[in-house]
Amino acid sequence: EQVVRLRAQLLEWYGRMGRDLPWRRTRDPYAIWISEIMLQQTQVKTVLPYYQRWLAALPTVAALAAAELEAVLKLWEGLGYYTRARNLHKAAQVIVKEHGGVFPETAQQLQQALPGIGRSTAGAIASSAFGRCEAILDANARRVLGRLFAVGDPPARAEAKLWEISQRLVDPQAPHNFNQALMDLGATVCTARSPLCLLCPWQVDCLGRRSGDPTHFPVRPAR
Ligand code: ADE
Repeated sequence: EQVVRLRAQLLEWYGRMGRDLPWRRTRDPYAIWISEIMLQQTQVKTVLPYYQRWLAALPTVAALAAAELEAVLKLWEGLGYYTRARNLHKAAQVIVKEHGGVFPETAQQLQQALPGIGRSTAGAIASSAFGRCEAILDANARRVLGRLFAVGDPPARAEAKLWEISQRLVDPQAPHNFNQALMDLGATVCTARSPLCLLCPWQVDCLGRRSGDPTHFPVRPAR
């Protein structure tokens, strides 16, 4: 059936074309969490050296919790949106003081317990670190799925549909690779302005492409 085929096609493409990124080589929830927060508002290329330097300086959640805020902000310097660094520090203290140093494992628990973790970041961490079958919906996933199913609703209404689609598609056998693949497809093939449809593993099924112009989907918020 379609969902099974879509999963297989995406994972096959990811095996050939997926990016080799350091946070994909670990299952450490702390390292994966740091990477996802850095990647919320910053490009992969910029994040890479910051990620390595951060983990060298603060290798565990206990080290982060015990660090001075000044030192934490210094490690963040240059990444911008400093609320992210303050939330990381705060959340590390919550994990140590209220969770015995152990990360919550479900997306819902991660989102509820820790400042700075929204629904999509929670899904990314739960699937990558704990192999949970949780959906993501970052900007890349939103664009890919919105095009695949030609979601033309106004953004507020599209949001619920796109979350349902993401949860329906995520592969219970390989939620980590599926979600990472979705991000890569959006970053490298299903790009905002000029998608490279001929390179896309979903080109035959894509309703956005079949409609003539995939960039009409999903409808972007007026700004
Ligand atoms: N953007 C957000 N999370 C990401 C990840 N894990 N890999 C690549 N880009 C991302």
